[in-house]
Amino acid sequence: MKVIVVFSLLLLAVNAVPFLNKLIEPHPGKTWIVLCASADTWINYGMQADVYHAYQVIRKHGIPDENIIVMHYDDIAYHKQNPTPGVVINRIDGPDVYKTPYEVPKHYTKDEVTPENFLAVLKGDVDLEKQGKKVVKSGPNDRIFVYLDDHGAEETVMFPRGVLHAIELNAVLKKMHMDNKYSELVFYLAACEAGSMFDKLLPTNINVYAVTATLPGELGWKCEHDKNLQTYLGVYFAYNWLYDSEHNDLTKEQISTQYQYIKEHNNFTMDGELLFQHAQQYGNLSIAKQHVSTYMGDKQVQFNTNSLPNKPAGMAPARDAPIYLLRHQIEQANDMNEKQKYVTELEGLLSRRKLMDKQIAEYVNELPAIDANIALNGKLELNNRECYRKLVDTFNDMCYVLGQVKIHTL
Ligand SMILES: *[C@@H]1O[C@H](CO)[C@@H](O)[C@H](O)[C@H]1NC(C)=O
Ligand SMILES: *[C@@H]1O[C@H](CO)[C@@H](O)[C@H](O)[C@H]1NC(C)=O
Repeated sequence: MKVIVVFSLLLLAVNAVPFLNKLIEPHPGKTWIVLCASADTWINYGMQADVYHAYQVIRKHGIPDENIIVMHYDDIAYHKQNPTPGVVINRIDGPDVYKTPYEVPKHYTKDEVTPENFLAVLKGDVDLEKQGKKVVKSGPNDRIFVYLDDHGAEETVMFPRGVLHAIELNAVLKKMHMDNKYSELVFYLAACEAGSMFDKLLPTNINVYAVTATLPGELGWKCEHDKNLQTYLGVYFAYNWLYDSEHNDLTKEQISTQYQYIKEHNNFTMDGELLFQHAQQYGNLSIAKQHVSTYMGDKQVQFNTNSLPNKPAGMAPARDAPIYLLRHQIEQANDMNEKQKYVTELEGLLSRRKLMDKQIAEYVNELPAIDANIALNGKLELNNRECYRKLVDTFNDMCYVLGQVKIHTL
């Protein structure tokens, strides 16, 4: 009898003092996951494949499906160039990541993959939810993990039609912090010039920790050139992140250790040359002392991937992947007609790029009060971000859709 009373009192005490609850539960609150591959077309196969693979890894580690939101254009699995319809791989000779073992959900696909929806999902936008769309419904004790994978440029990340701006992303993160939408938020970003999305913009006091694939002005790399699929199966950042996540006990590994692993696997050799991309971290760095499992799930998993190499093959700078791919195709072609077809395609691609450069040079040269040489060849520090945002959006609306690499490069 006495024992029961003491026990009940203890239970009461636990319920009454949230502090004790914290001691009992390893992580109070929930973990929410937002995975977004914002690039479309076959040449960007790898960006969606990375997100699918990340989805499998995170599900296997026990994050429940109801807390995960996936955004992807979804034009790869059943693309006419896919020799195995319905199958998407992220490693050369690797397993399917589209349906195996978990079927990747289609929360936002095709034209729903926009920067506006991406930000609205994070914020838990009520209007979007009213339309029956899934959003992050987080509270003050919850954690959020975000992975975004796409082409980037100075303070921008491309979407199939629109552009995500650094100032908008950071404003949303600040607002979410003010509205008590999370206890901590971890953001992994793989894109060219990814560092510029957070450098000098992400405050250190809003409990956000961000890891980017590249320095503010640096190009990122695609990897895993697949001769059969004739595309790249992933990006270098995700290769290292997911390799590390499949080969460690995430309940024991600190995020900072994972970051060190990614940083140390920044280099590779191509044609005898040592090349790099430099992962960076921003925001509140003490969040990186937490375990990876806090964000990616704490179930113990045995991954059957030991046979796969820890180093990717077939690298290409993300923006020039179509050129690198055509060079491979020219090399591999069996007969002269096929070779000639690829040579013609490459010439067309290069001349369209030249034309675009010429149009831009002409435009800049017409602008009054601008030193065209500096504007075209120099690298000035960005100081008027509102003006820059308008310029980029206007260019995207009126001249070239920046996210549709296929229009001007393929
Ligand atoms: C950084 O994050 C940790 C862990 O959430 C928190 O305890 C600390 O107060 C944060 N620091 C700042 C400056 O916000
Ligand atoms: C290059 O990468 C290897 C791992 O592949 C790592 O051991 C080495 O430290 C890296 N070198 C540099 C200079 O970053």
